[in-house]
Amino acid sequence: MIRTLRAAALALPLGFAATTLVHAHGDGAPSAIDTTGLEPLGENDRDKNPYIGNAKAIEIGASGYNKNCARCHGIDAKSGGMAPDLRELDKTEASDVYFLTRVRGGAQRDGRYRMPPFADILSQEAIWAIRTYIESEADKDPAIAAKIN
Ligand code: HEC
Repeated sequence: MIRTLRAAALALPLGFAATTLVHAHGDGAPSAIDTTGLEPLGENDRDKNPYIGNAKAIEIGASGYNKNCARCHGIDAKSGGMAPDLRELDKTEASDVYFLTRVRGGAQRDGRYRMPPFADILSQEAIWAIRTYIESEADKDPAIAAKIN
């Protein structure tokens, strides 16, 4: 009997902790994106964004960005200062590769993640779609466009 009680007492806080974690994640938890409708890219990484200007990619990328990136990088890709303004990345192929790598790896400082790694969550297609969306937002803002073009 005593043993059972103790087990129950142990199980209770654990149960609470698990529930809290699930809730704390809620909206904005890293989540996969359905890229149906985009040309599949296969196993090998592209060394430049294959979807530039692709309307479907912009649409999918917008939803993927809002789910996974907006809470830190800002609504409509306009940074509120918490994380870099991704519209300011230049449009070179080197910058494409940098983007792919950074999103997969996340950002760590002093052993803590400032940005989660998305390698296991977002496909190559999803990451390029997000990049395409961000570039389309950059094009809408003359001040940003002037900086990067
Ligand atoms: C929890 C907050 C958070 C989330 C979510 C997040 N990021 Fe970040 N990201 C950051 C921070 C903070 C930095 C700057 C890290 C540093 O100082 O090294 C950063 C840096 C970057 C960089 C490098 C920018 C540069 O100017 O060098 C890229 C690219 C990037 N993030 C893309 C994304 C994308 C795309 C998503 C969504 C799929 C995303 N991030 C989600 C916080 C976040």
